[in-house]
Amino acid sequence: MQKLSRRHVIASLSATTVTLCPAVLNAAVYGWPEGFSDKEPVGQARTLAVSSGEVVDISQLAPGEIAVLSRPSDEDEFAGTAGVQYVGILHRTEAQIAAATGGAEVQDPAYLVVNMVCPHRGAAIGVSDDPARPFACTRTSSRHGSLFDTAGVGVAGASDSSDILSVPGYTLSVGDTVTIALT
Ligand code: FES
Repeated sequence: MQKLSRRHVIASLSATTVTLCPAVLNAAVYGWPEGFSDKEPVGQARTLAVSSGEVVDISQLAPGEIAVLSRPSDEDEFAGTAGVQYVGILHRTEAQIAAATGGAEVQDPAYLVVNMVCPHRGAAIGVSDDPARPFACTRTSSRHGSLFDTAGVGVAGASDSSDILSVPGYTLSVGDTVTIALT
């Protein structure tokens, strides 16, 4: 079993909400690195590579933080991310749970687990610094720039409320420790 350590987790999301206009979305807004690709998520500290069925201990993931797992996939959905399935796990705060309406189906209200692939044109989704809209498309031009809320629902850019981040197959266990396995 792999164990998620602090180095796999992004820095805690900012406590203050940043209002982002799709027209001004760019790497600087998120602190994304120069020359980032739209084929893989950006914003997270590291990506933890896993295999199907492998159990990962995510107990270290604090409320408000996101971790990203990856595994190879030949499904069409992940063609835009170079045949890699990236999965984001948001440990939602109470405020993020309260703000989440509908959207991606969850196994536990405290954990939103979604594929990091944009429902608009299949680019990778990155991790933003906005706790209210923690997922952002890596295609940031004026025709793209989708943002997704704490339920995985599109709220800005090219995506609207009919665009919801898809959910991977996974098994989540929440107890003294919290574990997840992609199925
Ligand atoms: S591909 Fe994500 S907004 Fe267009």
